[in-house]
Amino acid sequence: MCGIVTYLGKQQALPLLLEGLKRLEYRGYDSAGIAVMDGQPVRLMKSVGKISELEARIDPVKFNGTAGIAHTRWATHGKPNEANAHPHFSCDRKLFLVHNGIIENYLPLRRELEAAGHKFVSETDTEVLVHLVEANKKSGLDLTAAVQHALRRVVGTFGIAVLDQDEPGVIVVAKRGSPLIIGIGNDEILAASDVSAFVRLTKQVVYLNDNDVATLRRGDYSIVSIEGPAEVEREVETVDISAEALEKRGFKHFMLKEIHQQPDTVVNAVRGRLLPEEGVSRLGGIEPVLERLKSARRLSIVSCGTSFYAGQYGRYVFEALTNLETDVALASEFRYRSVRFDEKSVVLALSQSGETADTLAAIREAKRKGALVLGIVNVVGSSIAREAGAGVFMHAGPEIGVASTKCFTSQSIIMVLMALLLGRYQNLTFNEGLRILRAIEEMPKHIQDMLDRQEQMLEIARKYHKAKNFLFIGRKYNYPIALEGALKLKEISYVHAEGYAAGEMKHGPIALIDESFPTMAVVPQDETYDKMISNIQEIKARNGKVIAVASEGDREIRKVVDDVFYIPRTLDLITPLLAVIPLQLFAYYTADLHGREIDKPRNLAKSVTVE
Ligand code: AGP
Ligand code: GLU
Repeated sequence: MCGIVTYLGKQQALPLLLEGLKRLEYRGYDSAGIAVMDGQPVRLMKSVGKISELEARIDPVKFNGTAGIAHTRWATHGKPNEANAHPHFSCDRKLFLVHNGIIENYLPLRRELEAAGHKFVSETDTEVLVHLVEANKKSGLDLTAAVQHALRRVVGTFGIAVLDQDEPGVIVVAKRGSPLIIGIGNDEILAASDVSAFVRLTKQVVYLNDNDVATLRRGDYSIVSIEGPAEVEREVETVDISAEALEKRGFKHFMLKEIHQQPDTVVNAVRGRLLPEEGVSRLGGIEPVLERLKSARRLSIVSCGTSFYAGQYGRYVFEALTNLETDVALASEFRYRSVRFDEKSVVLALSQSGETADTLAAIREAKRKGALVLGIVNVVGSSIAREAGAGVFMHAGPEIGVASTKCFTSQSIIMVLMALLLGRYQNLTFNEGLRILRAIEEMPKHIQDMLDRQEQMLEIARKYHKAKNFLFIGRKYNYPIALEGALKLKEISYVHAEGYAAGEMKHGPIALIDESFPTMAVVPQDETYDKMISNIQEIKARNGKVIAVASEGDREIRKVVDDVFYIPRTLDLITPLLAVIPLQLFAYYTADLHGREIDKPRNLAKSVTVE
């Protein structure tokens, strides 16, 4: 998500900064900006939309300078518009700053700075940083010290770069929680969020650690900690992979990278939204409509594809945690239903892209009929995000692989938070709420544990990938997971797969079963376990092969099925969000064994903007 590139050296900065930003495009963004200088007043240009639009607005003749900073923004605070795009600048327009991350305590800092006379021109959290640095410089500190002191006051994450017209031979960068890497060239020095931005110029890099503040000069640099003046040493490393491979962080495909991002994206989905001391969640994006939500009677979840299966999971969650009558509908079918809405009706749209035409049409219909429309969306500034009355962003960062993985878990966990928030005004006790929050806090560790065992799923895929058909089965919360697992497999490996409620096997599908038609069974040790075992026995009795996704410590299952992938134990409600990980891996490895174009499967688009 978002990106930073800086350059200081003997060449013109502009073309190198633009090239670097283009290398970071895969990270996704909604606006971009650039500032260059060579002593005279700093040249600044910002633009909403693509880097090519920013480039088209720049006259290279006037935009000269051998020092510069550039940024692609993934908006978190403030709409994607020119005023909110970075670089942000100080009141005296001598300091220019770009930032990746979230400043959680920006509001009190902004109020303090405004009281001291600073004028703000954006809605972003970032802008407080450049005014903090300006105030420190005016108190006599040099740029490095001014940045150190400013960052000591910050709660949140940042990767920043600062340009100072009064210190033309220097660029100061710093990081905490957002990546920033220095590239050391011959008499030139760069910094970026990702090595791919400058690897064409140099492979000598220094990976900054959290709380490092680096002062870059032509041809050399120094690093101190935010906390104090003492210099710190960081190893200079040589990167040895192509820029393209770098963008995937060494993963073979974006999809595998995004599967592996899930410990972090779950953290990002819930960051600042868990209140264990009250056993409840906090969702700023729906606070304006909370009173109406609390009095609502009916909830309709509308979405497509993977988001529809997340919605089916969400229905069980809202029914379990709230008094809401909940239904879930395919957005493409929603318009054909004569649904009656009133002020007690809520429609929740789930969408990674925020541009899915069917879902957009569904919420427009719901709004027309008076329902309160909420969105859980990943892309800030997207149509659904803008047209929903309120909502919650996933903060999963751009999902490049066409097959949705990290956004399935992000949107699902946000529905748990939404249901918890509502339920704690209804019948949910403090302890019930706390148990859910604790289970959510353990998710990243549990997901990482399964990712560390991904080879087990590769072995299973090797054993079964030649099958022409697959059945996926599950019950209750895990029925939607069976549906999602089947979709993952078919959309990237082109192997036919069907997800089914396990209880439905005897009503037809079991006629399909023989030794060439394997079944993936999601069978954690919960209240549905015994019935799942019966379904599995029915399959085995017809020579069907069964792979089980089962609870750690379940030794019985091994006697019943052919292969097992164990998942950590947690609340029944949260188990499906762990069970989906091995299914994502199974689909990925099966597709890879078939040599499929995994990130861009045939016939599919990442955002389906047609009906
Ligand atoms: C899922 O892997 C597919 N890419 C597709 O089903 C997708 O979930 C669906 O098109 C909905 O997209 P959205 O979440 O962006 O609305
Ligand atoms: N939080 C900052 C903003 O919304 C930075 C977002 C980013 O990382 O691009 O502008």
